Amino acid sequence: MVSLPHPIQYQGSKRNLASNILSFLPYKMERLVEPFAGTAAISVAASSRLISQKFWINDLNKPLIELLELIIEKPDEIAEAYTAIWNEQQNNSIEHYYKIREIFNKTNNPKLFLYLLARCVKGAVRYNSEGLFNQSPDKRRKGTQPETMKRNIEGVSQLLKGKCTFSFLDYRDVLSQVSNSDFVYLDPPYQGVCGDKDSRYYSGICFDSLVLAIEELNKKEIAFAVSYDGKRGNKTFGKELPQKLGLKKIEIEVGRSSQATLLGREEVTIESLYLSQNLVNERTLKLENYMSQTPKQLTFL
Ligand SMILES: C[S@@+](CC[C@H](N)C(=O)[O-])C[C@H]1O[C@@H](n2cnc3c(N)ncnc32)[C@H](O)[C@@H]1O
Repeated sequence: MVSLPHPIQYQGSKRNLASNILSFLPYKMERLVEPFAGTAAISVAASSRLISQKFWINDLNKPLIELLELIIEKPDEIAEAYTAIWNEQQNNSIEHYYKIREIFNKTNNPKLFLYLLARCVKGAVRYNSEGLFNQSPDKRRKGTQPETMKRNIEGVSQLLKGKCTFSFLDYRDVLSQVSNSDFVYLDPPYQGVCGDKDSRYYSGICFDSLVLAIEELNKKEIAFAVSYDGKRGNKTFGKELPQKLGLKKIEIEVGRSSQATLLGREEVTIESLYLSQNLVNERTLKLENYMSQTPKQLTFL
């Protein structure tokens, strides 16, 4: 797959896995719904492959969704704002970062958020217990150059402008509104503490609630895929989704740790992708159709 535009640095982005993930999803979709959109990497990739022309981009993080909306619908405005904020940092970039972070925590202005994400450690969004963004700046980097940022913003906008609905709801409110003409791609954060009502911090979601929500999708016969658990070497992260959901689990190799290889250990990172039963059936049916047509095609040759 050609390199896809990516203005937002974001830990957990599926940009590098998008091609693998899409190879298990339908070839055409009426609408792609991402209840845990993050940077909407799968929507960007699906649009570039003409798999879907309609998207619902949702994430609980409001400034993140407002930022995506600006990138997609008003690319010039956000590119200009980024250039101005980035240029102001020249003399003392660390102090500048902390100043912008302080203003962002008072205003939630998505334009400031783009600069913070470009400059913070590992693009990792971290909040304190009061819901304030508290990630530190990456001291070795100054953040994406404005020209590169502009190109990435324009790239995403060209792929998605005028095709998206944006919202910042809890994922369950999105799932209650989807229908079986939609395809849903779920990429939740790893398990959080159940009963934690305050979900402002986007750090995790309750496993049992997710399982219930998936059961509802099954009942409504909606096609979907879920990225969830995984493993690195012998270490697993996240709990497997239960068998009673009837999903097909695929393991995607994400990469090999060069550090571990140097130490003589073979450490492969695997991420799981679960496919809904009707998606598996659709894929199998297509394969069977293809195979039953093959002899006919051969006789024509
Ligand atoms: C693993 S990230 C998604 C990454 C995304 N696939 C991408 O490529 O950038 C999980 C996202 O879920 C969001 N989130 C956390 N709790 C949520 C909830 N209850 N409802 C909706 N979104 C939630 C987080 O803000 C985060 O952006």
